[in-house]
Amino acid sequence: MDNEKSNQRKNNQRGKKREKQRGKKRGKKRDAEFKTAANDLRLDSGFSPVVALDVGTTKIACLIGEINTDGDLSRVAGIGQAPAQGMHKGVVVDLEDAARSISASVEKAEAAAGYQVREAFVGVAGAHVVSMNRKVTIKNPNEDRRVTKAEREALLEKLKQVDVDPDLQLIHALPREYTLDGQDGIHRPVGMWAKKIEMSGHLVFGAISSIQNLIEAAGMAGLSTDDIVLEPLASSEACLDDQDLKSGVVLVDIGGGTTDVAMFAAGRLVHTAVLPVGGNHITRDISVGLKVPLAVAEEIKLKYGNAQSHLVEDIEMAKIPIAVPGSSEERIVTFSKKFLSRIIEARVSEIFSLVLRQARDSGYLSSVAAGMVVTGGSSQLEGICGLAGNVTGLPARLGVPTVGSGAVDIPGNPVYATAVGLLLYGSRRIFLRGPSQPPEPSTPSVGLWNEVLAKVKGWFGQSGKT
Ligand SMILES: Nc1ncnc2c1ncn2[C@@H]1O[C@H](COP(=O)(O)OP(=O)(O)OP(=O)(O)O)[C@@H](O)[C@H]1O
Ligand SMILES: [Mg+2]
Repeated sequence: MDNEKSNQRKNNQRGKKREKQRGKKRGKKRDAEFKTAANDLRLDSGFSPVVALDVGTTKIACLIGEINTDGDLSRVAGIGQAPAQGMHKGVVVDLEDAARSISASVEKAEAAAGYQVREAFVGVAGAHVVSMNRKVTIKNPNEDRRVTKAEREALLEKLKQVDVDPDLQLIHALPREYTLDGQDGIHRPVGMWAKKIEMSGHLVFGAISSIQNLIEAAGMAGLSTDDIVLEPLASSEACLDDQDLKSGVVLVDIGGGTTDVAMFAAGRLVHTAVLPVGGNHITRDISVGLKVPLAVAEEIKLKYGNAQSHLVEDIEMAKIPIAVPGSSEERIVTFSKKFLSRIIEARVSEIFSLVLRQARDSGYLSSVAAGMVVTGGSSQLEGICGLAGNVTGLPARLGVPTVGSGAVDIPGNPVYATAVGLLLYGSRRIFLRGPSQPPEPSTPSVGLWNEVLAKVKGWFGQSGKT
């Protein structure tokens, strides 16, 4: 164990050095391009920049937002997107490639914003993410039986004390509700009276190494990690409103390599999951089914894809030219749109069956009156909500990222659901931190993962307020 720790320390130190060198190199280049750094803007213009980094399986999205003095996201100043390299099913599998892709997306966003950024709120996903619900109880130590912030904090600490695989690290600890002397459904216990206080909450864990790799890749691209956020929670922040949360809802973000699930009941998070299946699997099925290369299968999916085969006419055919390797000629592939749709329907049905199983196993399926909100790049597939409804029996609608006030011109494309949610989350964190507290200096992020993960997150009712 000691050896392990010392190796880890050495790795972190080596990582720090590498990140510093790369960050410097990238910083130098960017300093030459941009006269103003984001940190100077904070002082000059009264707004604070906030950066979202969504490191997806197929694309990296970097969004630079600006927070006004009221703490609201007032503008999206820059959007940068680059194809993801070095990623598989939501996790970094090649540091150099992932760092290069991250750099490309950040540089595009910076070029649009006109200034450079140094730290970001980073989304985390992948099959390594696991979550659990837990209940913890304490006896009220106060003689007058009044519940104070101290008991709330003690319960939160107890909630986090759970024996899990040592390779896992806590990402979020989210209290859901309190039960005071048998009375459940309490959300703000401080100031009330009780002898026995119970907290139920949701815990999210991720593999230490996967999170380290993510933070390392961002660091190698010159970005330190301000905080990491579970991607389905970020997408929920962007696509769900108060009514959805109160009525109970299942958010499903179908990306390229993963399907992220977040379930809410009575305004609180009750379940999260990251399933290792997404749009790339649909593309692969089409490639095998129609015997075409992956790139062509992707093109066919985007152009002719429909998730509901009964809506496609039996006789409809489509043609697509494909290059013949080693020659300048093309061959024409003809296929039945119905057959294509059946291939897609089979895979998407499987995805929604898995989501339904998650919802059922959580024990909260009967509490989701608002049904299902489907977002992420693959939600753009025609007929997807109809199929979601047929498979799960829940009403389904498309989830498009929105910002409360509606005043901000944000990218209304479901591909950006996670990134917009990260911006909203980051805005809140930065505002709560207060203007007097500048962001942490852009220290190499790789050594910071522990500190980052140790932060208590402020998601949906766990903002430190009761
Ligand atoms: N119009 C469309 N119809 C069907 N699928 C689409 C469409 N546009 C994009 N997609 C699919 O969306 C997927 C990418 O979505 P997204 O950008 O949300 O994923 P990601 O964030 O890179 O990956 P992940 O979240 O799984 O790590 C790809 O599989 C792509 O084929
Ligand atoms: Mg994604």
